[in-house]
Amino acid sequence: MPFDYKIRDISLAESGRHQLRLAEHEMPGLMSLRAEYGESKPLAGAKIAGSLHMTVQTAVLIETLTALGAEVRWASCNIYSTQDEAAAAVVVGPNGTVDDPQGVPVFAWKGETLEEYWDCTNEILTWPGNEGPNMILDDGGDATMLVHKGTEWEKAGQVPPTTEDDSEEFSVFKALVRKTLAEDPTKWTKIGEQIQGVTEETTTGVHRLYELSRADGLLFPAINVNDSVTKSKFDNKYGTRHSVLDGLNRATDVLVGGKVAVVAGYGDVGKGVAAALAGQGARVVVTEIDPICALQAAMEGFQVTTMDKACEYGDIFVTTTGNFDIITADHMSRMKNKAIVSNIGHFDNEIDMAGLAKIPGIAKVEIKPQVHEWTFPADGDEEARSIIVLSEGRLMNLGNATGHPSFVMSNSFANQTIAQIELFTNGDAYRANGKPLVKTLPKHLDEKVARAHLDALGVELTALRKDQAEYIGVDVAGPYKPEHYRY
Ligand code: NAI
Repeated sequence: MPFDYKIRDISLAESGRHQLRLAEHEMPGLMSLRAEYGESKPLAGAKIAGSLHMTVQTAVLIETLTALGAEVRWASCNIYSTQDEAAAAVVVGPNGTVDDPQGVPVFAWKGETLEEYWDCTNEILTWPGNEGPNMILDDGGDATMLVHKGTEWEKAGQVPPTTEDDSEEFSVFKALVRKTLAEDPTKWTKIGEQIQGVTEETTTGVHRLYELSRADGLLFPAINVNDSVTKSKFDNKYGTRHSVLDGLNRATDVLVGGKVAVVAGYGDVGKGVAAALAGQGARVVVTEIDPICALQAAMEGFQVTTMDKACEYGDIFVTTTGNFDIITADHMSRMKNKAIVSNIGHFDNEIDMAGLAKIPGIAKVEIKPQVHEWTFPADGDEEARSIIVLSEGRLMNLGNATGHPSFVMSNSFANQTIAQIELFTNGDAYRANGKPLVKTLPKHLDEKVARAHLDALGVELTALRKDQAEYIGVDVAGPYKPEHYRY
């Protein structure tokens, strides 16, 4: 049966399929879940709206979800992160052809406008015959926000003309909600009522979910996938340790050794980014607001200072905070000539791009897609200085490169798949007195994800003896650590 989709070029499917084949070899967690659940199909009946970077690794996740019985519609959660050949391969599917695609409806391409981005997010929530979705798989919380804000504004009888967030992105979002409510005034309540739960991939989206829950505004239960140990302590850290350099190299090919690299934030992502830059011989400087993380950075040998000072001598800047206004227009105007400015946190507001564009006399030149030189007006006799901004201030590892490698994403996405099964088949456990909760996966499932990746690396695990297990007060089969253990 023909289905709708919107991608860059379906003829890229063959190249995408070859990349998927190689990725599958590097994703033992997902492949072991296919082997374990391929026959019982615990996701039969699940209609999943997925909003997560449409990369090769995500393609393997999508085909795992369908192998477990789910129906899926997919969009990317960032305008630059789609790999067009992966999107094409998913649409064609393992058994289809370019002329007879039999895969999954994907609405994503590299270089969407903001309007297109929100249209695509709307597409994954708009199922033929209104029969779905009943699950969301989210990264950053945009699909979840659309359902929640849509419902809130539908009940209020109007989309607010102004709010405290008057960014361009939010105006485009409000326009989309207005359009959808004009077409169907009860669209979002109906969708919200059908959804059994959301599984959320990243720190920023999880933060939004807990905020909704605290305000009693959460419409359905959620699993916080990010805080599975095998997600945030691997993808956020070791994933970025790989992909931050990939982004820098593909964008600029600048030698990192000897340079002063300023890393804003020393959480999980900051730790990976700082380690990568230090590994290349950069002199790493960290900025932090949390005394614990600041002390950790100092103990690793990194100088810790403020952006206000570091902006004047850094050669390479990477923001990793999940917070806004980390590098301001003033900071950028004080930077060294040809400083490289980039963000690897989820949203683009870490760097004040709007403020940069408003500096009188500033000029922007595209060096190549997702690499822009911003030249400040010449100051008296001095030559004009410029800075290089990657991915317009959006996630540079996905905008300038292809995100994290398969092996680390196999950990994250095995958690996603298990979380989808949990919420879809055991949803009551994620409510208290009917009220939806936000929970992480139980520790034994976290250990299961790790275990699935050991053989591929030749890891020989020591078997815990029964008497030893009793001595340290755990079960021989795990979990091996108490809930409060921090890894
Ligand atoms: P985290 O909470 O572990 O770390 C963020 C750190 O930034 C914290 O230590 C916090 O104290 C610090 N911070 C907050 N405001 C600051 C400020 N004004 N100046 C300096 N430091 C400040 O979060 P995590 O897991 O490291 O994630 C960070 C961001 O990266 C999130 O937006 C997350 O969604 C995103 N992310 C991106 C990935 C990618 O592939 N690009 C992968 C995983 C996460």
